[in-house]
Amino acid sequence: MFDYEVVLKQLQSVNNPNSIHGIFPYRGKISAIDARNMIDQFPKGICLLDPFCGSGTIVAEAQEVGIRAIGVDNNPIAITISKAKTMSSKFFDANHADLMVRKAMRVGEEEVEEMADWPRKHFHPKTATQIMRLKQFFSEMNDFEKGAFFGAIALSARGCNHYKWSSNQIGTIQYPLREIDFFGKFHDKVNKNSPHLLADTDSEIHQHDTRGLSEIIPANSVDVVYTSPPYFDALDYTSYYTKFVYEIMAKHERSDIKKGLIQKFSTYKDDMKVVMLEIKNVLKPGGKAIFVVGDKKTKDGVINGGEFFTELVDWEPDYVKQRGYTGSSSQIWDNVNNTDRKEQVIVWTKH
Ligand SMILES: C[S@@+](CC[C@H](N)C(=O)[O-])C[C@H]1O[C@@H](n2cnc3c(N)ncnc32)[C@H](O)[C@@H]1O
Repeated sequence: MFDYEVVLKQLQSVNNPNSIHGIFPYRGKISAIDARNMIDQFPKGICLLDPFCGSGTIVAEAQEVGIRAIGVDNNPIAITISKAKTMSSKFFDANHADLMVRKAMRVGEEEVEEMADWPRKHFHPKTATQIMRLKQFFSEMNDFEKGAFFGAIALSARGCNHYKWSSNQIGTIQYPLREIDFFGKFHDKVNKNSPHLLADTDSEIHQHDTRGLSEIIPANSVDVVYTSPPYFDALDYTSYYTKFVYEIMAKHERSDIKKGLIQKFSTYKDDMKVVMLEIKNVLKPGGKAIFVVGDKKTKDGVINGGEFFTELVDWEPDYVKQRGYTGSSSQIWDNVNNTDRKEQVIVWTKH
């Protein structure tokens, strides 16, 4: 595949405002700048798999440099966002997005469904009504519009709360709630992000449990697995802004979704052992697996992610690289660890 060592950059800034990744504030999103730095080191013409693709940062960045990428995640909202980011611009039509809003405006007052209690208390009533009007046309939206709709929900939740919440974490309700023009936010999301859609896309996005990766990805078919896996029980990928979307869409029970996700410390090791074997199976001989992990602070001290994964299975990594952050850091571990974060990148080869 490639026999050089990957180079990690010390990041001063992690967000690229001029990219599609701001469409939704997905929890645990990897830095797009960091992802691109890694992807730029891969040979062209490979098949890349991100088996925990979340909001599709790695898949979308790979697609941008012409690498065929497959993303897998078991969180339906992550799948919607990944599909939105990787939809071909050939299917984008600004008039269609306008049409969705015009239809939403015409819905009679008495036909507007009431928003579920939990999200409703966080929105100005007029904003909530606009969200529920547009929701009625969700099934008519294309993948990109669905992502923009979810992104506009998150942005409006922040707006109604006077932008006092961070871009990836919600806080207490800020009374009096501010009225936000939700249709305007939807348009903003569409207009800001659609110019980043690519015409030629061959990414694949699958909703599946990575513990059963071989059920959907053929053995010996992938050149590089590059991913930021779920990390212990630190993050609930159905929480914060994603929780708003789940509760508003009222389609899935969050407790059911959580059962299909690896986010419990008690079973984490066993789950990840299974995942490692699945990954090894889908890699081609000579293929590489690259995990971006990090330090995890527990009551017994700090667990070094590189050491943890090295000891997890009988598959010796080629090397582990570690770096700290200066200036700014990626959103992945900071608030969780409350410590000077070190991040490790582990590289394995399938021999
Ligand atoms: C650290 S996040 C990845 C974030 C991603 N790199 C991004 O930029 O958005 C880990 C992801 O693993 C997913 N996940 C957890 N358990 C899973 C499982 N059993 N199968 C598939 N995906 C899973 C979560 O839904 C979450 O999106």
